[in-house]
Amino acid sequence: MSKKPSKEASRETFTLTDNRSGKSYELPVLKGTMGPDVVDVRKFYADTKCFTFDPGYTSTGSCESKITFIDGEKGVLLYRGYPIDVLAEQSDFTEVCYLLLYGELPSPEQKQKFETGVSFHTMLHEQLNYFFRGFRRDSHPMAVMVGVVGALSAFYHDSTDITDPKHRMVASYRLIAKMPTIAAMAHKYTIGQPFVYPRNDLNYAENFLYMMFSNPCEEFVVNPVLAKALDRILILHADHEQNASTSTVRLAGSSGANPFACIAAGIASLWGPAHGGANEAVLNMLTEIGDVKNIPDFVKRAKDKNDPFRLMGFGHRVYKNFDPRARVLEKTCHEVLDSLGIKDEPLLDIAVELERIALEDDYFISKKLYPNVDFYSGIIFKAMGIPTSLFTVLFAVARTVGWVAQWNEMIEDPSQKIGRPRQMFMGATERKYTPLHKRGRAVSS
Ligand code: CMC
Repeated sequence: MSKKPSKEASRETFTLTDNRSGKSYELPVLKGTMGPDVVDVRKFYADTKCFTFDPGYTSTGSCESKITFIDGEKGVLLYRGYPIDVLAEQSDFTEVCYLLLYGELPSPEQKQKFETGVSFHTMLHEQLNYFFRGFRRDSHPMAVMVGVVGALSAFYHDSTDITDPKHRMVASYRLIAKMPTIAAMAHKYTIGQPFVYPRNDLNYAENFLYMMFSNPCEEFVVNPVLAKALDRILILHADHEQNASTSTVRLAGSSGANPFACIAAGIASLWGPAHGGANEAVLNMLTEIGDVKNIPDFVKRAKDKNDPFRLMGFGHRVYKNFDPRARVLEKTCHEVLDSLGIKDEPLLDIAVELERIALEDDYFISKKLYPNVDFYSGIIFKAMGIPTSLFTVLFAVARTVGWVAQWNEMIEDPSQKIGRPRQMFMGATERKYTPLHKRGRAVSS
């Protein structure tokens, strides 16, 4: 087949010629407000009896969206049109939640009403406390999150009718409000301390730090620098268009599944080290490197095709330039360490040197592998006293608003259908069944 772009007077099309039959097919070219043009292949199979083949969806747009825009070549990330660095500097997490959910920045009254509405849902059903006891104390907190968030559908039946916009919004508020509570409870359960109930007079980040680090025996004062840094990290992780976990949420939701089940599916997808699990993997890697002098060995391993080791926190499917979130985090990382009076953080020294060496290395330059958002977030979390196993949980807390915004958008999209990819089948062709008693003994090699 050969491809050549062609134009009609009224609309642009893409002509695809099947060199086997000589037939040509005109495919409409769609244009977004920004980003590459899109060739509409929705009727491709009906017209040609061929599927398109794109494992990993490197060339496939799966939906229309108005929420988040990324230009990976230029290192641009916009939430509803607003640059991420501007939001990180001037906004706060609940305002960003409102923006992602409703499409516009709130007025002061709208913001106040939204924060009150969300904080109304911060507590968990008391019965869920007992649900936690079913887990081993040494469970990975992401396993607990997947389980508890999935279980919310068993507790909040009054917000699972996905055809009712009010149910959808209540479920969205519940998820945004309850995720920090669940995350902090997962931590308290691991260390054997009593659960701490949320405090609605604190802001989102402050309340999370309070539930994580306070206990009934002592007064606890939230460090404002840490709360500000956490708020910024939450903003930076809030959405990232059609990444693996968001696509998982959309795919799960496309069948009509309830929102709690869909978000549990998203959490499961986020857990992997190629996605949100990378922040935990970065810290483990820096610890394993152990000393600046060992960096060249690890860089060598990362470049070796026969070694599965990769530099965690480097590379991105979309960014072929600096991840704009990593730039903000690098600055935040130094601010947090300074405010805590941490002068010597060996892991930060290793991270800075690793970044320097990798950015000067031909392998990383030619493959456009730059530090991503996970490269610095782990060091900040560590300085805050958050255990490594909780890093990806915090990513999930932040990403919940993106997931629910994308899920709502999908349900409201009139062109939405159940997600159902096809395949190139490479297995056995149809064959005759031989009854068990007629089959010979298998010859083991
Ligand atoms: N270290 C060494 N080599 C790498 C790395 C790395 N971190 N990342 C990519 N490469 C190489 C890879 O081996 C491949 O080489 P070749 O072309 O010779 O086969 C080339 O670069 C392209 O890699 P790819 O795996 O085809 O690219 P991808 O778009 O499928 O993968 C990625 C993107 C993020 C999964 C990958 O870069 C990676 O595994 N990075 C480490 C994990 C990580 O930091 N993940 C967090 C992503 S950002 C947060 C988030 O969105 O969740």
